Amino acid sequence: MISKVSALLLGLAGSAVATTYNIADTYIGSQFLSRFTCKRLLTRLTVASTTSQATALANNLTYASGNTFIMRADYTTTLTSSGPGRNSVRIQSNNTYTYALMVLDLSHMPEGCGTWPAFWTTGATNWPTCGEIDIIEGVNNEMVTNFTCLMDISGGTSASTDCNANDNGNQGCGVHSSFSNSFGPPFNANGGGVYAMERTTTSISVWFWPTNSGLAPSAVLSGASSLDTSTFGEPDALFVNTDCDIPSHFTAHNIIFDLTFCGDWAGNAYPSTCPSDCNDYVDNNPFAFENA
Ligand SMILES: *[C@@H]1O[C@H](CO)[C@@H](O)[C@H](O)[C@H]1NC(C)=O
Ligand SMILES: *[C@@H]1O[C@H](CO)[C@@H](O)[C@H](O)[C@H]1NC(C)=O
Ligand SMILES: *[C@@H]1O[C@H](CO)[C@@H](O)[C@H](O)[C@H]1NC(C)=O
Repeated sequence: MISKVSALLLGLAGSAVATTYNIADTYIGSQFLSRFTCKRLLTRLTVASTTSQATALANNLTYASGNTFIMRADYTTTLTSSGPGRNSVRIQSNNTYTYALMVLDLSHMPEGCGTWPAFWTTGATNWPTCGEIDIIEGVNNEMVTNFTCLMDISGGTSASTDCNANDNGNQGCGVHSSFSNSFGPPFNANGGGVYAMERTTTSISVWFWPTNSGLAPSAVLSGASSLDTSTFGEPDALFVNTDCDIPSHFTAHNIIFDLTFCGDWAGNAYPSTCPSDCNDYVDNNPFAFENA
């Protein structure tokens, strides 16, 4: 995704119903390059180009600097509508995680009309067969599955409790965060925040703590080697397995960060405050994406 990911992602392993997790993997700075697979994305391609990480690095679309990792869109090239669209980056963790806690420290996310950044997890085979968990996507935390899955949802406001992609145009079930600074320009103005996602056999939880809010557990902020989610307080979004067997809907997942433009989500939700047509705007206004 991200124009200035500040860069700590912890993957913590526990047992299927644990609340205490020990660090399995830590990703800082250049480890987002060495331990993730990097692909180039273009607005109008539905699959990531296999162009190598070297090309993304050469175009300065991604780089690591100390303990910071940056992903960004091309913000200098004016494009034509017949081309494949604006260049950006997608990275996917080599490692997969099943029942785990993930903690992300993020200082900046892409902003601007037509941007569709996401921090999400999904499995290797045909989407949405392995399930999808979106920790940051648009203004929602949401989940998508391939067949009947009804979740009891709490936290924020929920549009649907039906997570089956086939029932609602791939939307799945989402929760609109109760924090107005959990996304976009308000998130960046506040200096970002920390997201955590816990997946057990019976629930999926997402927490968000804005930077300097005093809300984040001190063990999270200090990068403690062991974290106990029972001390985290109310999740910002909580999905409980009311009528959805989590183990059979969600397989081992890779972690993905990406930034796409327009498409079915950002295109349809393209705000009335944005100019004209999403693709036209993205093609013709490179400098609007300096913060993406
Ligand atoms: C991660 O995967 C990429 C692409 O398959 C590979 O080039 C890279 O060496 C892998 N990283 C590690 C640490 O295994
Ligand atoms: C890449 O971007 C960084 C940060 O904005 C900048 O310092 C560096 O000069 C850029 N490199 C090139 C080759 O443009
Ligand atoms: C959904 O995915 C599971 C595997 O996770 C598979 O067994 C099942 O056949 C799929 N169902 C549909 C309706 O595609």
